[in-house]
Amino acid sequence: MSFILYGVGTAVLALIVYVAYSFVSRQRKAADFKRREKKEFAKEGTQWKKSQHEYYVEKFYGTGVTEKHDFHGGYLNFGYWVDANKDYIKASEGLLSQVADSVRLGKDSRLLDIACGMGSQDIFFYNKYKPEHIDMLEATLTHHIICKKRIEEGGLEDHLAAHYGSATQIPFDENSFTHVFSIEGGVHYRYRKNFFNETFRVLKPNGWMSLADYAMPTPPRNFIENFFGRICSSLWNAPLENWCSPEVFKKRVEEAGFVDVEVKDIGKHCIPGYYEESIRPEILKELTKIRGWFTTYILCRILDELILWAFNHRLLTEVLVRARKPE
Ligand SMILES: C[S@@+](CC[C@H](N)C(=O)[O-])C[C@H]1O[C@@H](n2cnc3c(N)ncnc32)[C@H](O)[C@@H]1O
Repeated sequence: MSFILYGVGTAVLALIVYVAYSFVSRQRKAADFKRREKKEFAKEGTQWKKSQHEYYVEKFYGTGVTEKHDFHGGYLNFGYWVDANKDYIKASEGLLSQVADSVRLGKDSRLLDIACGMGSQDIFFYNKYKPEHIDMLEATLTHHIICKKRIEEGGLEDHLAAHYGSATQIPFDENSFTHVFSIEGGVHYRYRKNFFNETFRVLKPNGWMSLADYAMPTPPRNFIENFFGRICSSLWNAPLENWCSPEVFKKRVEEAGFVDVEVKDIGKHCIPGYYEESIRPEILKELTKIRGWFTTYILCRILDELILWAFNHRLLTEVLVRARKPE
């Protein structure tokens, strides 16, 4: 009997020691990452000056994400909602697959993913398509730091590299990549046409640019549409110059030198599904923990309502764009 008691006691003690050890080592790891986050990754803090557009984009995206970056799988896109799917992560990865499949991302590809957000999408691209290498470029420092954290946690340093910078001044040499992606970042760039020129420069001949981006099917028809359109743009940090119809979008890509340009309107598969997701009570509850009550129930609600309103009035849609740099 005493032998059994001794055995059980030892097992319980071992379990307690194990749990305590795991807890302490997890805390240590987190503290170590926090220290490095400040010293090594963030260095001097933001690189943007108040006179730069990226400064405001970074402010818009940079608040309240650290520690909460696993919400929605770390994705920030509107998703591609088909087949009665109600799961956000599935919809989000559906959109990523649309972008990658249309330009045959594969094992010989070298991808530059611009506006990569918190990096979940590149882990998805890596796991699904196994490209040779992915460079990620982000203008929001907190997102960039989370990308670094994800790469390190996944032991993916040989395959993925995160960089802090802007789509309009790409820090790479010409002819460096077989593919350049940008998922729902383009509307923020000042200006999108500079991003097209930069992408053309860094792509290898025959390389593909593939985007999920926004367009404005019809220009504002009256004062109200014009007024709300401007409010949306300003709240969203999206320069007015970037708003154009899918047809003009195509023309602008061609003007940068690309060929085989295709612009496909997929708004009906993206925006209503995302809106439904954004008003689900569980989602609002989660978001309140991340962004606070005021931002969730007032600011984000206004923005999401305006987005749906703009979509219903054909002032906003989502487009899939692909284009090739000629040989
Ligand atoms: C809607 S989020 C999309 C993020 C990510 N692609 C996703 O789907 O989860 C837009 C992203 O664009 C980034 N961004 C905006 N302007 C940028 C710029 N000039 N250069 C690089 N990234 C930029 C923002 O920091 C933000 O992470």
